[in-house]
Amino acid sequence: MIPKRALRDLSRILGPDRLITLQDALNPYGTDGTKLAYAPDAVAFPDRIREIADILSLANRDRFPVIPRGAGSGKSGGALPVLGGLVLAMERFDRILEIDDQNLVARVQSGLITARLQEEVEKLGLFYPPDPASIRISTIGGNVAECAGGLRAVKYGVTRDYVLGLTVVLPTGEIITTGVETAKGVVGYDLTRLIVGSEGTLAVIVDITVRLIPKPESTRTMIAFFRNPSHTVKAVSQIIRNKIVPAALEFLDSLCIECVRNEIALKIPDEARALLLIEVDGDQTLTRREATRIREICLDHGAVEFQVASGKKKSESLWEARRNVSPAMYKLRPDKVSEDVVVPRNRMAELVSFLEELSGKVGLPIASYGHAGDGNIHVNLMLDKSEPKEVKKAGLAVEELFRKVLEMRGTLSGEHGVGITKAPYLGMEISQPALDLMVRVKKAFDPKNILNPGKIFPG
Ligand code: LAC
Ligand code: ZN
Repeated sequence: MIPKRALRDLSRILGPDRLITLQDALNPYGTDGTKLAYAPDAVAFPDRIREIADILSLANRDRFPVIPRGAGSGKSGGALPVLGGLVLAMERFDRILEIDDQNLVARVQSGLITARLQEEVEKLGLFYPPDPASIRISTIGGNVAECAGGLRAVKYGVTRDYVLGLTVVLPTGEIITTGVETAKGVVGYDLTRLIVGSEGTLAVIVDITVRLIPKPESTRTMIAFFRNPSHTVKAVSQIIRNKIVPAALEFLDSLCIECVRNEIALKIPDEARALLLIEVDGDQTLTRREATRIREICLDHGAVEFQVASGKKKSESLWEARRNVSPAMYKLRPDKVSEDVVVPRNRMAELVSFLEELSGKVGLPIASYGHAGDGNIHVNLMLDKSEPKEVKKAGLAVEELFRKVLEMRGTLSGEHGVGITKAPYLGMEISQPALDLMVRVKKAFDPKNILNPGKIFPG
């Protein structure tokens, strides 16, 4: 609950138009990509950094939760107001401040849709590689808060690898900058890296300086259909063993293929039970050579069909279909429990066989797809949450999955974060002393626990 006097002060800071408290208008700000819903007490739309600082000072004085929010596309509940409070909608901070093609950096505001940054830098022959599937709807601030990965992580890395520096407001109301605007810098602790991926619990991200690279000269997109999912992921390991690191190397199992079948403008062979979508980039001779080798490897691993997308339009439509897998999955069942595990990529075949067994054992369909090149598979337990039995089965399956992944020396989340959905399992991966240290870090940033409380830590 936000006390009355705080609401009065908030409305003084923001004016009547940039603070909403009416229930119906609040609802869209209480949900996110998890489709879970909580009720905030109010939503603020600041448009100056000073306002955010004042809001956080108020929150400390009167002790109410403040929940920073980008586009609300997150997959682990990072933007959900689980304890009520004030949602801080960053949508007015949506500008590109500077694209510097001499120093290969850009400065942007956190509420900017990431695809816009990509498009603008590409006009100058530059490249911002991080490419989360949500790129057309998610904001760069949300990407930084979650350390988003995406389709090109296999070759280019994740959001963290491109963030040079930040301007943030600390939970206690101070405005600070972290990191550098130069190509390198080692002065002091790396607060930038600490804040990237901190899921909105350590600071409100306002401005971001990112590193850019030259845009690759050409790309080649390929699709390969397989009869056997395990052979499919073995082909992935073989591609990498051949010292080819594609710009994207994505896997879809048969349930996922069904979900986007109508969007794939190709005839899908009847016997296909899995597919790989692959893109190589670089100079033309190299991409041609790599594409030929990838084709050989796929055929050696039993691909029933292999095609190179002819032209930009075809290839873009394949990637669009891939980006739509997550939302399209609701065609299968009304709900899903969506996991984001990573295993060493040479153990992916073991994971894929395990998932088949697990699905049979718990009696729920499991649809899996994702960044095979990273060993990062989105495992989706499809269910109907109004059936308590199915919810229970999914819960047991998740625990078994996590145990298996950790046994394989993997991790519980590659890119979606802990939020609330994985908080109960944190202790399975993080040791008690490390967890205690994390709690102390949170306390040092946010002694009154007002910034995005109820996230990451169990209980
Ligand atoms: C994807 C998102 C869900 O890869 O991470 O589609
Ligand atoms: Zn993903």
